Amino acid sequence: MSFEPVLLRNVGRPEARKVEGYRENGGYRGLEKALEMEPDAVIELVKDSGLRGRGGAGFPAGLKWSFIPKAVDKPKYLVCNADESEPGTFKDRVLMEEDPQQLIEGCAICCYAVGASACYIYIRGEYVEPADILEEAIRDAYEAGILGDNVMGKGFKLDMYVHRGAGAYICGEETGLLESLEGKRGQPRIKPPFPAVVGAFGCPTVINNVETLCNVPHILERGALWFKSIGTDERNTGPKLYCVSGHVENPGVYEFPIGVTMTQLIEACGGMWRGRQLKAFIPGGASAAILPADKADVPLDFDQLAKAGSMLGSAAVIVMDDETDLVRSVYRLAKFFNHESCGQCTPCREGTNWAELVMKKIVSGHGKPGDEELILRICRNMGGTTLCALADAAVGPLRSLVQNFPDEVAGWLDGGGPATEPRRYFAEEVTA
Ligand SMILES: Cc1cc2nc3c(=O)[nH]c(=O)nc-3n(C[C@H](O)[C@H](O)[C@H](O)COP(=O)(O)O)c2cc1C
Repeated sequence: MSFEPVLLRNVGRPEARKVEGYRENGGYRGLEKALEMEPDAVIELVKDSGLRGRGGAGFPAGLKWSFIPKAVDKPKYLVCNADESEPGTFKDRVLMEEDPQQLIEGCAICCYAVGASACYIYIRGEYVEPADILEEAIRDAYEAGILGDNVMGKGFKLDMYVHRGAGAYICGEETGLLESLEGKRGQPRIKPPFPAVVGAFGCPTVINNVETLCNVPHILERGALWFKSIGTDERNTGPKLYCVSGHVENPGVYEFPIGVTMTQLIEACGGMWRGRQLKAFIPGGASAAILPADKADVPLDFDQLAKAGSMLGSAAVIVMDDETDLVRSVYRLAKFFNHESCGQCTPCREGTNWAELVMKKIVSGHGKPGDEELILRICRNMGGTTLCALADAAVGPLRSLVQNFPDEVAGWLDGGGPATEPRRYFAEEVTA
């Protein structure tokens, strides 16, 4: 399956990091067009395109922008979520490293539409190189008159800042991010009020993911109809980046119309690693329910994956072959969520800890029949009971392990072990 790249069109063109090189390939035409329109018309266009947030929840971007109150006499902000903390996700990094001007353009259009005069790009601390590249690109955009007091000579004022986080999963959650941006401990806020009303520094704020914003210039330039012509249906539109990792020959970031299937993605990745069989896959990052191989033909979009009992999330697709022990894999994820829980809400703080302990008990050979029910009980006590969705995220892999792969768990109980013993390889065979 081939697809003419939209979001990745400047990959391998290092000159595109500068305004001049970016313009050579059609860059900044979207912003030019936006500045000729009324801000509300820009919001309507993005609404009409059907663009849904690419950070995890899939909330319609234009609708979110329309929530920013106009009559409020306070500054308005855009915060770009570049925390990219979901395990398995590495698409925003590629966008920022390879095409930083595309993100600057998307941010500028959003700011113009909602009346924001400042944009903060909150980037995870570990992304040292992408942050340096972005800062350089922003400097260049100021020099070229794309940013500053008079954007493209149209009298619109916009400042843009890169804010480096310290590397915490919870700071990807939008209100934890806002706390961190304000210099406080990154603990999520109670909602409502939502950030559109009370966001950064108490002011109305749009928060969007990097990939969401990178779609915006193309919508302005090529129109809502073009955008809607890509994808599975009117609720799942546009190009999508999939981060494929695990047991495929060529892992990486792949761009396809939203709704490509797992089978098509594996084929694009050069097939399964060493010709193995697919056992299971995680379609949307560590928070998503693990699906069995017989779901490989489900379109990877927001609605079809929800119907199949999982979610698109951040589109971090983790491929697991027939030698993967899912119980050990889920134990590793349980450790991650326990480590990353901010501890503010009791069900999450306690639940993620108990989940890790029970999984550890099982993989150390002390599991007993009934542990499956114990895991499900922990999930019931965590899900939907906390301020943010980290606890729900922790439930995803746990519940799906018990419900979709009961034999894998049963095999470990009463002194058992993994369903499949991994074959051993000599070093030279692995590197061959
Ligand atoms: C625990 C947790 C971690 C999150 N991490 C990220 C992240 O790293 N990047 C991101 O864009 N969204 C992340 N989100 C989702 C954000 O809260 C928010 O929904 C998103 O930034 C909105 O942007 P979008 O509408 O463009 O998707 C996370 C959510 C939770 C609950």
